[in-house]
Amino acid sequence: MEAHTGDQGVLSLTGGQRLHGSVSVRGAKNSVLKLMAAALLAPGTSTLTNVPAIVDVEIMAELLRRLGCTVTWDTAAGVVEIDVPERLDHRADYDLVRRMRASICVLGPLISRCGEADVAMPGGDNIGSRGLDLHIEGLRRMGVDVVNEHGYLVATSAQLTGADVWLDFPSVGATETLVMAAVLAQGRSTIDNAAREPEIVDICSMLIEMGAQIDGVSTSTLVIDGVPELHPVTHRTVPDRIVAGTWAVAAAITQGRVEVLGADPAHLTLALDKLRSAGASIEERSDGFVVEMSDRPRAVDIVTLPYPGFPTDLQPQFIALNAIADGAELVTETLFEARFRFVRELARLGADVQTDGHHALIRGRTSLSGAPVEATDIRAGAGLVLAGLVAQGRTDVFGVDHIDRGYAGLVEDLQALGATVTRTDEPSS
Ligand code: UD1
Repeated sequence: MEAHTGDQGVLSLTGGQRLHGSVSVRGAKNSVLKLMAAALLAPGTSTLTNVPAIVDVEIMAELLRRLGCTVTWDTAAGVVEIDVPERLDHRADYDLVRRMRASICVLGPLISRCGEADVAMPGGDNIGSRGLDLHIEGLRRMGVDVVNEHGYLVATSAQLTGADVWLDFPSVGATETLVMAAVLAQGRSTIDNAAREPEIVDICSMLIEMGAQIDGVSTSTLVIDGVPELHPVTHRTVPDRIVAGTWAVAAAITQGRVEVLGADPAHLTLALDKLRSAGASIEERSDGFVVEMSDRPRAVDIVTLPYPGFPTDLQPQFIALNAIADGAELVTETLFEARFRFVRELARLGADVQTDGHHALIRGRTSLSGAPVEATDIRAGAGLVLAGLVAQGRTDVFGVDHIDRGYAGLVEDLQALGATVTRTDEPSS
């Protein structure tokens, strides 16, 4: 499998097929990018396995190369090797950071290893303001001087010092930045109200394998005792719960039966419970789960919250499900204010959705009707593809480059499950 290079493709779907079969899930995008950054913390060669063939991995590989690393990626095997030099460059340029907001995750490791970091302010997903104040405030407490110069965060520190940090909000990115700064700082750091997503647990596990001392992993209080150095490791990326959850919704929305392999159902407890409430039967296994749906789904209310709450990254997929469900339901988005922009596209398929601030009211329709639509971010793209699977006639999803950032081999997997879908550079007429 090759990673798509982010072309401006179109996915053309003809709705109506029930999906049947098995699909395998690889490692999480939202973990592997941070694990690649964590490798910077130890000179030598670290190896990551279960790496998904997505564009963002290539962007992160390029970023690490510019910092002085040698990076090789076997996309078929899902293995990335990162050879980290003793001396790193400390500048992350705008041309890469603007393509991927997650690039900000090199900030913590660079300040740890180099005592300085120049990281361009990120762009990335088009889903709201997504500030960096919690990253910056936490670093300041650890003795880092941070200024904004010409669009770059310029961070310097003579000596990183452990500190107590209370996050106003359990930000995933800020937790990662602060953990990666604290592992090599002098003394003890406590991060309270830390995020505890499975991807945070994954990065903490890798850091502990590298020799870091972190207590409280998977709780909201992380206690980190800085160590003088870390060593390189081989680490397997945690499965992608969002991709797994997307396949679960695909089975439910098409009234099919899909076996999702390589996923951890414990990371999707709430989402799978919601699907049960919608009428699906779900069999959980040690290596994944099976979702089966035989009737029209029932409407389910959703409130997105930090883990273990309902993931915002599955919100558009559940809105798509609700669009054809029996009943009306309320979806409340608490994390990203602009995420409902995708609803306007869903309305083009005939969905009955009203939004007001953080809330969306969806009245389920018996059917949707295919139309051209535009994916505005990764998960919006996933939601539109799911809607296209059940819309009558043809749906062309533009902006496939967004979907490529999170879903490797999506078309091939959909085809193997029986969907009528093709990918072209332009829609055939
Ligand atoms: C990560 C995920 C993203 C997911 C999100 C929430 C990656 C690459 N992306 O994003 O897919 O949707 O977690 O699960 O892992 N905030 C601030 N100040 C800060 C940091 C965050 O105000 O310093 C706000 C953001 O604007 C946003 C909210 O907090 O509204 C959530 O952000 P955060 O948890 O940091 O998410 P990301 O790490 O950006």
